[in-house]
Amino acid sequence: MVLDQRLLPNRQDWVECTDANQVANAIVTMQVRGAPAIGAAAAYGAALQAKKLADQGISGEQFGQAMADTLNALGKTRPTAVNLFWAISRMERKLAETSGLKPAGQAASLAAEAEAIAEEDVLVNRRIGQHGTSLFTQDHNRILTHCNTGSLATVEYGTALGVIRALADASKLASVWVDETRPYLQGARLTAFELAEDGIPYTLITDSMAGHFMHAGQVDAVIVGADRIAANGDTANKIGTYSLAVLAKYHRVPFYVAAPSSTFDLNIASGDQIPIEQRDPGEVTNLLGQSIAPPGTAAAHPAFDVTPHELIAAIITEFGVVQPLTKEMIANTIGGRKS
Ligand code: MRU
Repeated sequence: MVLDQRLLPNRQDWVECTDANQVANAIVTMQVRGAPAIGAAAAYGAALQAKKLADQGISGEQFGQAMADTLNALGKTRPTAVNLFWAISRMERKLAETSGLKPAGQAASLAAEAEAIAEEDVLVNRRIGQHGTSLFTQDHNRILTHCNTGSLATVEYGTALGVIRALADASKLASVWVDETRPYLQGARLTAFELAEDGIPYTLITDSMAGHFMHAGQVDAVIVGADRIAANGDTANKIGTYSLAVLAKYHRVPFYVAAPSSTFDLNIASGDQIPIEQRDPGEVTNLLGQSIAPPGTAAAHPAFDVTPHELIAAIITEFGVVQPLTKEMIANTIGGRKS
């Protein structure tokens, strides 16, 4: 079951997915979104498909080919978040490791692997939260965040929002500035929803207000999530993150990224090589189903941008805080990850 995030916060509708096609559709249409969440969803999609094929009594050879096609299709859903490809690689490896088994046995192993990916994500997020709090020596921190990086974007708890939750638990949090995150409004619709549910104090602002509040000395740190981090620390995250990082640098506000090791793509040297998803410009010219621009207005909609590593004070991972942010420190810190 997938909570349809497009309808939040006004409606909580659950969508049942019984095969990989339906899961792929849920990812493409943003019913499920957020880098770790789409990775885990894809893994479950593959497991569902494997069970469906095994139940149909497919031969071992056909099963292998059908699963390769399934994983390939899941990989075509969204291009930027590397967690999707990381999860698919894990499922591919499990498929190869179990190639000697009958389809039913392989399907059971794939289901266990999807379950492991989901369970690990919860633990990883808790560790990110713990490491993140160690960066804050004072109480009453006012944290600004962008997009949604909480339970909705992960399996549970969250990355940047996990650090915010951990700060609240440690009585180190005063309040959260929530960027609305135009055009898709992940901040207004989803982060505000999660913080309200938790009873954590927050104030919703439009993205253009961040500089104003930094100038006024009302932001102690910025914490965001990530969709893909290159070997040198350049970080792709929701569109608007780069502008925030520039503002934070100017105002000497520390800018932190919180992400699991599965968000690092050590195969690419810098952020220039990160593919940026281009979404429907209609999501810019329309707001909640209402046109907000003259008919025929041209619009652009890159869904992510890349923040150069020089603007990032530290990256918080489940293995610890990467600071200073160098290629070597990244490799040393996440070297022990399960790839
Ligand atoms: O387009 P989305 O909503 O999937 O983008 C999500 C983000 O950019 C998040 O900040 C990122 O995935 C980190 S989620 C823990």
